[in-house]
Amino acid sequence: MRVAVTGSQGQVALSLLERGAEQGIEILALARPQLDLADPTTVLPVMSAAKPDIIVNAAAYTAVDLAESEEALAAKINDAGASAVAQAAATLGVPVIQLSTDYVFPGDLDRPYREDDATAPINAYGRTKLAGEDAVRAATPSHVILRTSWVYSPFGKNFVRTMLALGETRPALNVVADQIGQPTAALDIADAILAICHRLTTGPRSESLFGTFHMAGTGATSWADFADLIFAEASRHGRAPVAVTRIASDAYKTAAKRPANSRLDTQKLAEAYGVRLPAWQTSVSETVNRLLAD
Ligand SMILES: NC(=O)c1ccc[n+]([C@@H]2O[C@H](COP(=O)([O-])OP(=O)(O)OC[C@H]3O[C@@H](n4cnc5c(N)ncnc54)[C@H](OP(=O)(O)O)[C@@H]3O)[C@@H](O)[C@H]2O)c1
Repeated sequence: MRVAVTGSQGQVALSLLERGAEQGIEILALARPQLDLADPTTVLPVMSAAKPDIIVNAAAYTAVDLAESEEALAAKINDAGASAVAQAAATLGVPVIQLSTDYVFPGDLDRPYREDDATAPINAYGRTKLAGEDAVRAATPSHVILRTSWVYSPFGKNFVRTMLALGETRPALNVVADQIGQPTAALDIADAILAICHRLTTGPRSESLFGTFHMAGTGATSWADFADLIFAEASRHGRAPVAVTRIASDAYKTAAKRPANSRLDTQKLAEAYGVRLPAWQTSVSETVNRLLAD
């Protein structure tokens, strides 16, 4: 199985490269400058040359706050770029997996969001990702849109690495406690994507395998409790304790608003593919252990 992935340095792309190598699956990371989602004309030639069995669009404009002032650029990459990837998949006759986000929802429901709940993004990044979903649906019926949330990994910029870096110099930190969601390890996303790729390229392709699915770490928490677990794990590696002070979102100003409830109901994915991600605490612990080993 040859899996073409967009981007090479993103959290999900790097995780796919690592897990693919472990599982003997060929992962072709197609990145800038050869493949630039901001220039859709670059997509089909690079994809055609790669001759993939399946395409994963893991690249995106992900700077949530900056997107408030750069929405046109974010849309170019997340909407027109995603459209070009899905159109290339349609031209090549292969399925496409598109990564999307909990930020397509407003966050005012008091239960985990299901795939068919009404979308209504409250920030620019969410609007561009939702437009990208629609573009992928329009480009090909052979799509799997995976909405995920609160992604972290041993790589790149994410909450776990930020907390560990801040904790090195600060004995106390203020962390938002009134947003709840599901921390999701990019390495778990990669395992799930590869299982989905395997299923789509080998077994019979029933209609229930295509469409939109939610995929996130099992269980929910707040950013403050997430931080507490990171520091508890870090203390087992000899790090000094860090006191987490719980604050409200209003006290932590950001350019983009975040949904108060980011929880995603992942039952549909479990039923279609038998895929359920590990408990969020297990993967946070593994990631901190890996980052602080030796
Ligand atoms: N991070 C989260 O918390 C989160 C939450 C929900 C959903 N998601 C979604 O999950 C997916 C993966 O996110 P991630 O955390 O892995 O992202 P990331 O670490 O920020 O990486 C983004 C990737 O996109 C690539 N990229 C950006 N602009 C590009 C362009 N014009 N052309 C080609 N590649 C471009 C980057 O390229 P280089 O390889 O060249 O650096 C990088 O590989 C995205 O669709 C994101 O929207 C993320």
